[in-house]
Amino acid sequence: MENRILIVDDEEKIGSLIARRLNKEGYSGVTANNGKNALHHHDKEKFLLLISDIKMPEMDGLELLKKAKAMHPDITAIMMADYQEIDMAAEAMRMGAFDFIKKPVDSDQLVLSVKKALLKNKLKEVIDGYHTHLEKLEEEKRKRLQEALRILKKANLNTVNVLVKAIEAKDPYTRDHSDRVRKMCMKTGVKLGFNEEMLENLEYGSLLHDIGMIGIADDVLQKQGRLSSEEYRQIKEHPLIGAKILEEIDFFRDKLPMILHHHEHFDGSGYPDGLRGETIPLEARIILIADAFDAITSMRYHRKSMPLKDALMELERGKGKQFDPYILGIFLNEKIYDSSIGVSS
Ligand SMILES: [Fe+2]
Repeated sequence: MENRILIVDDEEKIGSLIARRLNKEGYSGVTANNGKNALHHHDKEKFLLLISDIKMPEMDGLELLKKAKAMHPDITAIMMADYQEIDMAAEAMRMGAFDFIKKPVDSDQLVLSVKKALLKNKLKEVIDGYHTHLEKLEEEKRKRLQEALRILKKANLNTVNVLVKAIEAKDPYTRDHSDRVRKMCMKTGVKLGFNEEMLENLEYGSLLHDIGMIGIADDVLQKQGRLSSEEYRQIKEHPLIGAKILEEIDFFRDKLPMILHHHEHFDGSGYPDGLRGETIPLEARIILIADAFDAITSMRYHRKSMPLKDALMELERGKGKQFDPYILGIFLNEKIYDSSIGVSS
């Protein structure tokens, strides 16, 4: 099986002559005297090589080659042709035959052609094996990179959480505020059909939206009762401070717009730039709603929390004014706020 070669010739004498010579070379020649018999052998076992006469009655060498290739596409064939059949031999080469030798067959030349064909097959095997090995290496490399990226992302998220805790430590009433906002934003993003990358950006942006509060004086942040206009002006600096803190870090660059603009109002009455409508980054419009909902349903120094029913009415009143009406619709209809912890209803 290992070294079997199929020899097809309608002149049986030629077939067995070739077989004998190949046997001397250490191969095992199997003969067939027509295409049909050859295909029968070819179907039963895989040969190293097919050596076939071109001109045969009934099924000629070209048809045999075509059928043999349909059964085993990688079969290597050597065709035998005399000078009158040179066109057919050329056609056989176009069909993927490895070589052709002229009849009457010079057996030394045939052996040489057989050896060349088998060497080519060996090389192909080695190259295929090398490619498979390369692909495996590539796959391993890709997996290692993916794992490294996953670890890096986790480390980033951990760092962000530390930052968020640092802001929240300044004001115990805002504890877990960022995480509740994050959860509501993620739910909204999913409803809006965000892809994985957009969701990831929104996750960081929503967690960090108030990072700039770190730059606001404690006595302003923790003031009980109404804020003076000067204190309010200071509070309004926090989106700018937040963007300033994060702009130095490449990883956060694409999250800056949502942090900078999370207090812009749909009707243009917000800050810092008074952007209106869809000129406000989509993520910022999402964060604004979740942030507002959590703020009015949580206790703060300067006021009490609001019951859920009133909070929802309050959001409804801001539709098209403070809030993007479409996103607000999703927030209310899909009960995005249900995921929020600490709702006092
Ligand atoms: Fe804010």
